[in-house]
Amino acid sequence: MSPADLSVDLGRGLVLPNPILVASGTFGYGIEYGDVVEVDRLGGICCKGTTLQPRIGNITPRVTETPGGMLNSIGLQNPGVDAVVAKYAGTWAGWKTPVIVNVAGESVEDYVEVVQRLEGVSGVAGIELNISCPNVGRGGLQFAIDAGAAGEVTAAVRRATDLPLLVKLSPNVGDVRPIARAIADAGADALTAINTLSGIALAPSRRKPLLGNIYGGLSGPAIKPVALRIVYEVSQVVDIPVVAIGGVTELADVLDFLAVGAVAVQVGTAIFADPTLPVRLVDELTDECERRGIASYAELVGTALPPKPGAPSSKGVEYRP
Ligand SMILES: Cc1cc2nc3c(=O)[nH]c(=O)nc-3n(C[C@H](O)[C@H](O)[C@H](O)COP(=O)(O)O)c2cc1C
Repeated sequence: MSPADLSVDLGRGLVLPNPILVASGTFGYGIEYGDVVEVDRLGGICCKGTTLQPRIGNITPRVTETPGGMLNSIGLQNPGVDAVVAKYAGTWAGWKTPVIVNVAGESVEDYVEVVQRLEGVSGVAGIELNISCPNVGRGGLQFAIDAGAAGEVTAAVRRATDLPLLVKLSPNVGDVRPIARAIADAGADALTAINTLSGIALAPSRRKPLLGNIYGGLSGPAIKPVALRIVYEVSQVVDIPVVAIGGVTELADVLDFLAVGAVAVQVGTAIFADPTLPVRLVDELTDECERRGIASYAELVGTALPPKPGAPSSKGVEYRP
């Protein structure tokens, strides 16, 4: 039997060789890990969040460990889109693995401008919008927590680019479904879920919060149940592909996310402990398909979702004379 088909179509021509990606902010620009990781065997690379202007990031301390995870407040440190293109795109263009540029901004115009500078650049396979950023135009409210703002920024970016467009959902909302729908209706090709959960940690003195920015984003195994719930909810209300992120540390996590409707997963925080994990997961997923005797990993997708209302009975004809 030939190895199972692991390829995944995220729309608009973005076909990944397999469904295991690395998450934004945990794999740099891909170049940094070149000596330890077979980068060309990954399904995709989401690079560090990229903004119009260079950013030095937040004041330190910026990270701390938590039970089952970590809290970070890097503050989108990056050299700015022009430097990212100049420094890295040439190398990306030589890779088989698609590189998806994670884009952040403080206004709709910011996002549009960054995306326009990425348009047509060889080596840029797609865009992932990080909309968990304060929207200066709306008094600092995050784009990601408001269906109107999320739809507006997605639509503006959609008009500005023909690149495959992924939009990343925040878990820091009451009901994520209207936001997911607004993003899909605005023309996104795929959703990615989830970004980090907002949290704080205390300094040992207990006289102030530990992180320089006070707030940080919680990631790692601690957030997996939240990510599973959101992927489960979202994949039932949109028709575009959903890519899961949140606490993946082993194949069982990948299989769980596929079962609740994700077509691919991103590995984040676990990379800090073991950068070789994502490539190992590709091999383990191939082995798992062989063990189950399935021709495509796609057979593992959505197995835990309730049947769609109105779908024909899986048992066949139910009306007997
Ligand atoms: C140190 C660090 C930096 C991150 N930077 C970004 C970023 O620039 N843009 C973004 O969309 N997500 C960023 N994330 C969020 C991750 O991409 C991912 O959504 C989150 O960590 C949950 O996945 P995990 O539990 O596997 O880490 C960052 C996460 C960490 C831990």
